[in-house]
Amino acid sequence: MNPNEDVMLTLEDFLDTLASRPAGDDVKASMLALADASKTLHGAIRSGSIPGAAQVSSANASGEMQKPLDVFADETFLAAAKAAPIAIYGSEEQEQPIMTGAGSLAIAIDPLDGSSNIETNIAVGTIFSILATGGTEDAGAVFTQPATAQLAAGFFMYGAQLLLVFSAGTGTHTFAHNPDTGGFEHVARCEIPPQSREYALNSSNRRHWHQPMQDYVADLERGAEGPRRQDFGMRYVGSLVADCYRILQRGGVFIYPSDRRKGYESGRLRQLYEANPIGLCIEQAGGAATDTKTRLLDLPSTTLHAKVPLAFGSRDEIAVLQSYANGGAKVLQ
Ligand code: F6P
Ligand code: MN
Repeated sequence: MNPNEDVMLTLEDFLDTLASRPAGDDVKASMLALADASKTLHGAIRSGSIPGAAQVSSANASGEMQKPLDVFADETFLAAAKAAPIAIYGSEEQEQPIMTGAGSLAIAIDPLDGSSNIETNIAVGTIFSILATGGTEDAGAVFTQPATAQLAAGFFMYGAQLLLVFSAGTGTHTFAHNPDTGGFEHVARCEIPPQSREYALNSSNRRHWHQPMQDYVADLERGAEGPRRQDFGMRYVGSLVADCYRILQRGGVFIYPSDRRKGYESGRLRQLYEANPIGLCIEQAGGAATDTKTRLLDLPSTTLHAKVPLAFGSRDEIAVLQSYANGGAKVLQ
């Protein structure tokens, strides 16, 4: 419970406040089903009960290496979707969307994001985006709706605590699992400070980046002696939910741009089940999300497994980053 709140707000209570929003009842039922599934997955991660959980077994539909825990996570959330009013399940682990039965909703999901970190006991997560089907069974049409059409989106974070961070368009809210009650309780409404001096990126890729992003980061590194006239710090977990949650908590920017390598023309992260839900949560927390040039949520959504360049975080810093990407960096000199 948020120590500033007099009355504890459960996830159920919060979802009730969304009842008058589009598909409010179905969103509630789906969120509760996902929350149950997250408890199952968290239990498996904590106990190490999946044999060979962290061993690579094969490549999944998206070309990422798949581990037994990825498969378990996918099965767990697929079962949750089937038990919820979710008719279409589009997963990172499945090449094609699965028709899961009756319901007004569809989900795009990364069942276990950051699974390459599992053996290191670093926080990993499940990222999801819930959309309306509008009554069609045409998954292609459903998943090409604009990201602004997301009804609810966010992530579960399997770390020291099991957290749910999501937005249904009324701010971005964090809920923590209470092991004593088995329920999720409201912790906070997230507010990202507009300015920040912390950035997150995989520096080993920088030599492949396009020049404007290289210039932007070079100027951050020049610190107080450079055009930014202040020092910056770098923090990068390499697990998207962990990097995102840090930014939701204390600001900063995360950058995974496109680069010159084959396969990285649109960066690394997936539009539908990584970038779009993170983008909604970041914007609803007062931050900004972009493909480095354009507001992320304004981009056309494409195919289930499409990638997109991604930068998000503190609003003013994202504006500076965009000014470099759009060729206006000289205003800072
Ligand atoms: O799902 C992709 C992912 O594991 C994210 O969790 C993370 O942000 C990113 O890849 C890290 O990529 P890299 O290892 O290239 O830094
Ligand atoms: Mn992922």
